[in-house]
This record gives sequence, C-alpha cells and structure tokens, in this order.
Amino acid sequence: MSKKDIDWGNLTFGYMPTDKRYVSNFKDGAWDEGCLTEDSNVVISECAGVLQYAQTCFEGLKAYTTEDGHIVTFRPDLNASRMADSARRLEMPVFPEERFIEAVDQVVAANADFVPPYGSGATLYLRPYMFGSNPVIGVKPADEYQFRLFCTPVGPYFKGGVKPITIRVCDYDRAAPHGTGHIKAGLNYAMSLYPIMEAHRQGFDENMYLDAATRTYVEETGGANFLFVTKDGTVVTPKSDSILPSITRRSLVYVAEHYLGLKVEERKVPFAEVSEFAECGLCGTAAVISPVGKINDHGKEITFPSGMEDMGPVTKKLYDTLTGIQMGRLEAPEGWIRRIK
Ligand SMILES: Cc1ncc(COP(=O)(O)O)c(C=O)c1O
Repeated sequence: MSKKDIDWGNLTFGYMPTDKRYVSNFKDGAWDEGCLTEDSNVVISECAGVLQYAQTCFEGLKAYTTEDGHIVTFRPDLNASRMADSARRLEMPVFPEERFIEAVDQVVAANADFVPPYGSGATLYLRPYMFGSNPVIGVKPADEYQFRLFCTPVGPYFKGGVKPITIRVCDYDRAAPHGTGHIKAGLNYAMSLYPIMEAHRQGFDENMYLDAATRTYVEETGGANFLFVTKDGTVVTPKSDSILPSITRRSLVYVAEHYLGLKVEERKVPFAEVSEFAECGLCGTAAVISPVGKINDHGKEITFPSGMEDMGPVTKKLYDTLTGIQMGRLEAPEGWIRRIK
C-alpha cells in the first residue's frame, strides 16, 4: 500500500470519498456490532426522524502524521464524550465511548493512504455522526438510529501564511439560554447559515455571537470559541453554558498554564471589555487558532494591537506549542496523542 496520488498542499476543506467508512445501526434497543463498508451512500425512509425533526448530532476531529512518521489522533476520547452528551440532550441512544474511539482507529487505519504526510499542513478530517433513521411523523424521538464515521483529507487551514480575520458582532442569536448551544447538534448549524452568509455578503469572515438573554457577553462564533489576551499577558476565555466546549480551547488553556506559565481566566467576558484586549483568536479543530485582527460592531471598529498582518505574540506561542504537541515535536500530556500506526 502506498499513499494516494493527491496534491496534499492544494487540498481545500472539501469532501472527497475515501476507501472505507464505519457504520453501526441501533435497533430494538441495541447497537449492532458495526463494520467498515465501502458504501458511501445512506439509504433511509422518506419519513426518517432526521429528515423531519433534525434529530442528528456530529463530531469533528483529525488524524495526521507526526514528525517521526506515526499516524495519530488528538484526544478522541473528548470527542467521544462530547458526542455522548449531544446524544443524551437529543434523546438519542449514546454510541458507547470506547466503541467511538475504536471506530476512529478502524477508519483511520483503513484509510491510512489518505492521511497526508508530515509537513504538508494537510490532515485527515474525521466526521462521526448519528441520526434518527426510522419513520417518525408525530414529534418524538426515533426508535432506530445510525452511527457513521467517514473521513476526508483536507488542506492546510492557512494557505500562504496566517492572516488575521475581520469579524462582526452579529444581531442574530446562536443559542438560547438553556437551549442546545453546548452540544454539537446539526440544528445549531442550520440556524447559523443565514447569519454567516449575511456576514460574508457584508465582507466579514465570521460572526461574534453575544449571549441571547442580555446581548452584553461574548459567546463564540458559529464554529469556534474565543481566546483573548490582556495587555499584561493573561489569557481570557468566555465561560458560558450555551457555547460548545471546544476541545482545542480546553487544550490551549492547559498549554497556557502548564507549558507557558501564563495566567488563565475562564469567566464571563463583557463585550464592553473586548476593546481593552491586546490579542484575540478563534480556537477550534480546523485552524487550532485563527487570529482576529478586527471586530466590527455595527460600524464601530475594534482593532487589536496585534494588527492585520500577524498573530499576536501570545497567540503565536500558544499556537506553536499546541501544534508542536500534536505533531510530536513537543512532549504531550499523558493520553493526548493516540497512536494508530
Ligand atoms: C460552535 C463551535 N464552537 C467551537 C468549536 C471548536 O471545538 P473543537 O475545538 O472541539 O473543534 C466548534 C467546532 O467543533 C464549533 O462548531
């Protein structure tokens, strides 16, 4: 077996079918044993619960090649437990966490030739998801479900260097208090499509959502948590029950405290405080950290001292340290890196 003939450096964030994906079905109260399949199509009833009432949740993680040539994943146990939380909130049966991790291992191993080489910047993106599959016409949870996990190679997030982005304060809400903002439900993303397209039409890269109840505290964007750095080098990240608990953010907080000796505050962040910060970044699996240079608040601009050319110095240290851990250049905390090959 040898690597697929793919122009790794020029991949985008798009879907490309690979050789194998994992499927398991839940019926009569139990998950079947699951298997790898070459069939990339899903065939379900026209009345399937997912199609009628959006009963679906998903995860996103990556496999990649380390400096010494191993294929690894990063903290898949946290994706497994977050997906279990999502399932419980949506009245779906939990796909057992140890089986989730096993399915990740199997899919990556079966598609090892699609894992981009070290140094290409590209990665193998993994998409576990599950949905209600049997007919549901009255509003209620489905009785049958399918768990699937496919992968697709994706390109480096920052092509031609890191460029800070410009975001806008959004007038739409992402999540209600006591709603579903803290889980990875498909419905959270459906409702974000109009706001993100509107942001793009207005020339902005992303939306900054504020808390729906008071519109005074920073929440997150449609696909990443915020990290700020104060002028004296403290890392500040919003705490809220209605944001997704980002695995990247939790890892960066650990890195800040234990590798870089920085002070970290996880707390409510009033929007009014944002203009006082020195640096701002968005953290998530896709980019690790994407620097924000400017925030547009209804025509009023907040520009960070880090500017529009580069990541701020603390953001860069956080980025270099976490990517160093992920790529095997720096020693990882126990259990963070799962070697597959
Ligand atoms: C709404 C939202 N917030 C934050 C994140 C970042 O989470 P993670 O670091 O686990 O990728 C994501 C991406 O999964 C997301 O969709």
